[in-house]
Amino acid sequence: MERTLLMIKPDATARNVIGRIISMLEENGFKVVAIKSKHFSREEAERFYEVHRDKPFFDDLVNYITSGMVVGIMVERENAVKALRELVGATNPKEARPGTIRAVFGESIERNAVHASDSYENAQRELSFFF
Ligand code: CMP
Repeated sequence: MERTLLMIKPDATARNVIGRIISMLEENGFKVVAIKSKHFSREEAERFYEVHRDKPFFDDLVNYITSGMVVGIMVERENAVKALRELVGATNPKEARPGTIRAVFGESIERNAVHASDSYENAQRELSFFF
């Protein structure tokens, strides 16, 4: 059984949709293994998103992700990394398939409600920020 990370971002925690996002995980066969809320420091946010350090949106991304509470959820399922990316949908909510978490809860490409690890290796790395 594979484990991965879903992180609920500040726009979604501020809008009180944490429970509805967890319901979508459970309805789609994911077992919730652990949950932790957290407020990223600048240094943690820069390390979490280090692959994007050279992107033009990096500073905005770090400002946004440190602006409020995030919730880290460790989930378990067969093919969890791939299955969670499918349930989360495209980065830009406007392009996300209807019914995906970002299509339902995302506001913009930056304020897109959730983050999901994109590989098994990144799941291990990103889970270690919370657990
Ligand atoms: P996430 O899956 O958390 O991974 C990196 C994040 O950077 C992404 O979701 C978006 O929130 C953000 N992002 C990606 N592309 C852009 C962009 N063009 N402009 C602003 N933010 C972006």
